[in-house]
Amino acid sequence: MKHVASHGRAVGIAGTGSYLPERVLTNADLEKMVETTDEWILTRTGIRERHIARGDESTSDMAAEAAKRALEMAGLQPADIDLIIVATLSPDMTFPNTACFVQEKIGAGKAFCFDIEAACSGFLYALETARHFIGGGAANNVLVIGAEKLSCITDWQDRASCVLFGDGAGAVVLQPRSEGRGIMGSVMGSDGALTSLLNLPGGGSRHPVSRATIENRLHYIKMSGNEVFKHAVRCMTSAGQAVLHRFGMTAEQVSWVIPHQANKRIIDAVADRFGGCRDKFCINLDRVGNTSAASIPLLLDEVVRAGKVKRGDILLFVAFGGGFTWGATLLEW
Ligand code: ACO
Repeated sequence: MKHVASHGRAVGIAGTGSYLPERVLTNADLEKMVETTDEWILTRTGIRERHIARGDESTSDMAAEAAKRALEMAGLQPADIDLIIVATLSPDMTFPNTACFVQEKIGAGKAFCFDIEAACSGFLYALETARHFIGGGAANNVLVIGAEKLSCITDWQDRASCVLFGDGAGAVVLQPRSEGRGIMGSVMGSDGALTSLLNLPGGGSRHPVSRATIENRLHYIKMSGNEVFKHAVRCMTSAGQAVLHRFGMTAEQVSWVIPHQANKRIIDAVADRFGGCRDKFCINLDRVGNTSAASIPLLLDEVVRAGKVKRGDILLFVAFGGGFTWGATLLEW
């Protein structure tokens, strides 16, 4: 695991925004689609419902809405933005990158744009990347967005995975900060030996789209749920503890933990390993499911707009996803 060093200017979050598609898919709806029950889904995952994008609504449409709301909170115009980074594993297209589509949709003509793909950890990887651009003086106003249309890569015949995922987007505006520490730092890790446990095998250069890839359903998410579960608990716990240790802090000093929303049981297990401070672990997966790279910024926006976060509060973000990839970021609000 790597400690990502701080350097240059302090960087903070100046605005947050999020977007959820209108359509809600409940566990009762899923009971009609696959052999499952509301009771199984709720007890095994904590999820009650998730939002599903319209057919004509793309990842960049959702990202652009979240971005506009974050810009409004930050009091900025799209033309003020120097850089847009979108974290996603369900881009509009293989290329161009989704951030370029967002740029066009919001009218941020001055920005340069790229995507980051680190599955459910993507937002934290993008946040850390943006912090370095600002810290090093290469950018002042940066939009970091996590956005996913997982419904179009979910196998709606696989009851073990289709009950988990949802669509949505969350965004933050990052700026240099003159007071307080802002984003203090991150700890990140990856394990490329475990790529087989969580992936979408079809459509890339290894298995280009063909009749066979489609017949074998290789264009959908494949997941070894039990294995993912164990690694997620272990890696989110160790990354969270490592970043706290690096800054000489304890879990008691953290105001809110914003964990990736994969499964309530994973979050509970991580909270137990943090000494049981479960009331600090924020949760919205009951209403939105697992939205991969969108999950942390979506939840952050909810918590901020609910007025729960005060200046000077210490926030801890922890994430885990395909790769495997994982990370933890500590920040002072
Ligand atoms: N409804 C009813 N029964 C089901 C369902 C369902 N939706 N899905 C599976 N089952 C059955 C299984 O077939 C199995 O039956 P069996 O015992 O007769 O074989 C039984 O339930 C238990 O299955 P498990 O897989 O052992 O169930 P588990 O308690 O592990 O829960 C789950 C499965 C929810 C997928 C869990 O493993 C999990 O959350 N894993 C982590 C997923 C995750 O975090 N993904 C994040 C990354 S996603 C990304 O990066 C895009």
